[in-house]
Amino acid sequence: MSNRLKVTPNDLSAFWMPFTANRQFKQAPRMMVSAKDMHYTTSDGRKVLDGTAGLWCVNAGHCRPKITEAIQHQAAELDYAPAFQMGHPIVFELANRLVDIAPKGMDHVFFTNSGSESVDTALKMAIAYHRAKGEGARTRLIGRERGYHGVNFGGISVGGIVSNRKMFGTLLGGVDHMPHTHLPEKNSFTKGVPEHGAELANELERIVALHDASTIAAVIVEPVAGSTGVILPPKGYLQKLREICTKHGILLIFDEVITGFGRLGAPFAADYFGVTPDIMTTAKGVSNGVIPMGAVFVKKEIHDAFMTGPEHMIEFFHGYTYSGNPIACAAALGTLDTYKEEGLLTRGEELAPYWEDALHSLKGEPHVIDIRNIGLIGAIELAPIPGSPTKRAFSAFVKAFERGALIRTTGDIIALSPPLIITKGQINELIDHVRDVLRSID
Ligand SMILES: Cc1ncc(COP(=O)(O)O)c(C=O)c1O
Repeated sequence: MSNRLKVTPNDLSAFWMPFTANRQFKQAPRMMVSAKDMHYTTSDGRKVLDGTAGLWCVNAGHCRPKITEAIQHQAAELDYAPAFQMGHPIVFELANRLVDIAPKGMDHVFFTNSGSESVDTALKMAIAYHRAKGEGARTRLIGRERGYHGVNFGGISVGGIVSNRKMFGTLLGGVDHMPHTHLPEKNSFTKGVPEHGAELANELERIVALHDASTIAAVIVEPVAGSTGVILPPKGYLQKLREICTKHGILLIFDEVITGFGRLGAPFAADYFGVTPDIMTTAKGVSNGVIPMGAVFVKKEIHDAFMTGPEHMIEFFHGYTYSGNPIACAAALGTLDTYKEEGLLTRGEELAPYWEDALHSLKGEPHVIDIRNIGLIGAIELAPIPGSPTKRAFSAFVKAFERGALIRTTGDIIALSPPLIITKGQINELIDHVRDVLRSID
């Protein structure tokens, strides 16, 4: 083992870890040193089953040869080319390949480096689009309670997770929020999309009436809310949002950073639900999480609204040094090849019934108050320890890791989202780990 891997706790102080209980971690570090397919190997040589595809991103599994080779080749061939006023072939190739698998009508792609950047890009596009069309008063943005749209200022403004917002001042002005769609009293232990709650979409009509449609640029939602602990859209809810947005000339943005690239058993949630947004934000699965990348898909009409004025002028004053970075593009192409060869963008559809039954077999286990599932996503909600919210789920997470499974928790909810290559046997193994953990925690 190389020296780099033999870190001692004293070496850990310089790195301020993101979204981490730093002090707890540094007392008892959980270190991964390698990964292959469905498993990590820890610094003490244990195999850990990846029940979360990293952070909902490693959809094709770990260290897949096509992706590794593509990156190696590209790094030796063209490491970087300026993203502004210059191009390189594979970024165009990638945009075409992405449009080929995108929902019909989403004809253009803008590259970013993360989900957060995709979201802020989409919000800026929406406001600038209306202005380009002569409707410059349309600046308001509508998000949803409990929504997660990354951590940049635009994303936390339209997002609705209190702990991600409350420390950071007044955020963007002119933002309103629809209610979330979590109705445990009516929908607990529903398999798949819940029956009750489509009427919550009508809250958008109330918000539109309050502000007037002429001031609203866009509505942004996750088709399935992930990071808040998996909240599903009630039957018919997304269709209603689409109708209301269309009626009022408001752009509908689907944040597909988690749902994109096969997570629901269809290439995108837009395909799964049969509802096409105007803008779609993605990241994570676009490059299998291997090299940072995000992609914002837009309808032709939106793109074309910018393509006016003198031809030597920049049409959209926005972009990142690493938009369409060649190595990230190579990783994404290797990823798309892997998805295609192995049918991964639709594999979840075959596995979903098995996954659903396995998850719901946890009903009746200690602490479990709800189970939710869709595609290859699952959530097991635990009753909180009175006075110590999140503690029970966090113990479950630590215990699961010690036993050999990576799960993810938010609040008192365990969220599962394995790589799309998972086998039925590995689904059983993952659920057995969770069952044993639930039986062993207080
Ligand atoms: C729906 C959604 N949007 C945006 C993001 C932010 O992505 P990133 O962490 O790549 O900035 C996430 C991350 O989990 C997400 O789930």
